[in-house]
Amino acid sequence: MRRLLLLLLLACAPGAVFRGAPAAMPPFFPSADLTRIGVYYYPEAWPADQWPRDIANIRHLGLEFVHMGEFAWVFMEPREGQFDFAWLDRAVQLCADQGLKVVLCTPSATPPAWLTEAHPEVLMIDATGRRLERGSRQEACWNVDAYRRYVGKIVEELGRRFGHNPTVWGWQIDNELSHYGHEPCYCDACQAGFRAWLRKKYGTIEALNRDWGNAFWSQAYQDFDQIRLPNEKVLIAQPNPHAVLDARRWFADAAADYLRFQAGLLRQQIDPRQWVTTNYMSDFGAVDPARSARDLDLITWTVYPVHGNANEGPLGFRLGSAASLSFAADFHRAINGLHGIMELQPGQVNWGEVNPQPYPGAIHLWIMRAVASGARLVCTYRYRQPRFGGEMYHSGLVGPDGVTPTSGGEQYAQAARELVLLRQRWSPDARMPAAYAARRTALVYSRDSRWDLENHPQTNRWDTSGHLLKQYRALKRLGAPVDVVTEDRDLSGYPFVVVPACQIVDEKLVQRWRDYAARGGHLVITCRTGEKDRRGALWEGPWAQPVADLIGAKIAFYDTLPAPHSGKVDADGQSYDWAAWGEILEPREGTTVLARYADQTYAGRAAAVTRSLGRGTVTYIGVDSLAGNLEAALIRGVFQRAGIGTERFDDGFLVDWRDGFWIATNFTAQSQTAPVPAGMQPVLGAREVPVAGVTIWQE
Ligand code: GAL
Ligand code: ZN
Repeated sequence: MRRLLLLLLLACAPGAVFRGAPAAMPPFFPSADLTRIGVYYYPEAWPADQWPRDIANIRHLGLEFVHMGEFAWVFMEPREGQFDFAWLDRAVQLCADQGLKVVLCTPSATPPAWLTEAHPEVLMIDATGRRLERGSRQEACWNVDAYRRYVGKIVEELGRRFGHNPTVWGWQIDNELSHYGHEPCYCDACQAGFRAWLRKKYGTIEALNRDWGNAFWSQAYQDFDQIRLPNEKVLIAQPNPHAVLDARRWFADAAADYLRFQAGLLRQQIDPRQWVTTNYMSDFGAVDPARSARDLDLITWTVYPVHGNANEGPLGFRLGSAASLSFAADFHRAINGLHGIMELQPGQVNWGEVNPQPYPGAIHLWIMRAVASGARLVCTYRYRQPRFGGEMYHSGLVGPDGVTPTSGGEQYAQAARELVLLRQRWSPDARMPAAYAARRTALVYSRDSRWDLENHPQTNRWDTSGHLLKQYRALKRLGAPVDVVTEDRDLSGYPFVVVPACQIVDEKLVQRWRDYAARGGHLVITCRTGEKDRRGALWEGPWAQPVADLIGAKIAFYDTLPAPHSGKVDADGQSYDWAAWGEILEPREGTTVLARYADQTYAGRAAAVTRSLGRGTVTYIGVDSLAGNLEAALIRGVFQRAGIGTERFDDGFLVDWRDGFWIATNFTAQSQTAPVPAGMQPVLGAREVPVAGVTIWQE
């Protein structure tokens, strides 16, 4: 009886780890744990007599879980139907002996040779019509029945074997689901899958012909069976843009369906206390995590901030981009409220164009940025630097000798110690500070719009993610907490909403934005929003018809400037440069002009406007400035006019609040002052935050 009572009490306690625990408490990841920290290990790649030493050392570094098995299919099923899990039993047991949890994976990214030999039809066909070969990874097509059968079998076997093992904490499906830039696959199964998807969507071929605008170039079909996935490699001129948009939707749907298939099989076998995820490639456009919001318990993703070819600022090549890192976290978290970083860079990688050393302290900085963004787990790729294979130059927490910690290893150990300290100081009573909550912003990220803009940018100077990041940076400089949300999300909890370049809309969506503002919200919309309907067609009416009324201005025309030209815009006595996209606005009465073009043939005409609507405001920024500084100034103005206090952080100095902790992370090239209240001693770090530094305080 006493035990039963205790159990009941435990089940109701905040953070109890039971599925079906009181609503609103994440059952798998108690808030008190903050962020669990772990590492990838490949027992199959190292001599078995070294496993006990390696796993003991992982524990010794202070890590809490080990990630295994995502590429180990041939070790799990060395011949068709012959399963061997003894080695994995032992590896999991060694983790258990050290008090480490285990994340196990389904190995579907790497089919064994016996499989593709018996069923070459599972190998994907690329855009040139070639069947790809086995021997790398992600070369199999998940839409082929035979492949699904084999995947289904290994997933069930794994689930049966480890689904009740108390050491196994959760499951990762596949690995970075994609074909690494070779997508989509053009095999017969995919062609048939696309046609079935279209049949379901359109019902009749006449409806498809109408919505795809197939009167153009005599593109009309007589039957669904004539349709093939649009493929630029075999078409003389540009493919039908409406078909391209549908093909991208189909591909993302099929990928989500495959994840659902694996998750469903796993869940039939495993304990409800084990969670299920997949790890998405950060900012990989072809697969859409939001489509799996309900199939996965948390959304995890992979991120490598430094590879020397995609970063900004004087130290970006060693620190990475704060904005991209933070944007990705705010996106993945907002999908279902739980996110984690499944792969975080431990040191130099092997696959960049150049692979510089991260800045001293950068790895610790990234871990703490993950903590600040609410990650439930952070896991690094990988424990040991490999001696063989295509990733030999990829560093690990220890070198190829298997024992000597790298700088990354030391930084992981440091972060693990700090997390223990933070957990001791965690309090269930912490509430988001009011001044911070007052800045809560939703940034609407429309996958359809991104796909359509990528397919049809209209100028090679247009960069959709760059445009989104300009608005995002502006918000983080104000110290706003941001959720990057899908367009269907309820916006009522956010005092501010930013809708950047949401090209594809319908009247209903625009009506929701209108209602949001009318009820007191502050809405910011940027250029290119509302140009097209759901089919990706222009409106039979004025340019961007549904938003024109909402923003209180007509969009007379737009311009794009070829390199090396740029244009000038003036706002509030300041001058800004632009080049990629500029819309010339004609404000209605009652609409205030915020920015005007200062040169070109339309000098003096409006580039940005604002108006009040009901109890709220609508601001439209019709131009994409080169540096994003015009957007920063205009968005600051929206907050100021709304009477909301803001910070003035440098771009790259991020300060966020999580579970009672303020966490400041410095990605800039100089030291920064953290807004620690006077007289207060930070829990970690100091008020002056050095380059790559982290400061944490409680208020
Ligand atoms: C990730 C991938 C890992 C490994 C890593 C190397 O994108 O999921 O398997 O290849 O990159 O940085
Ligand atoms: Zn295929």
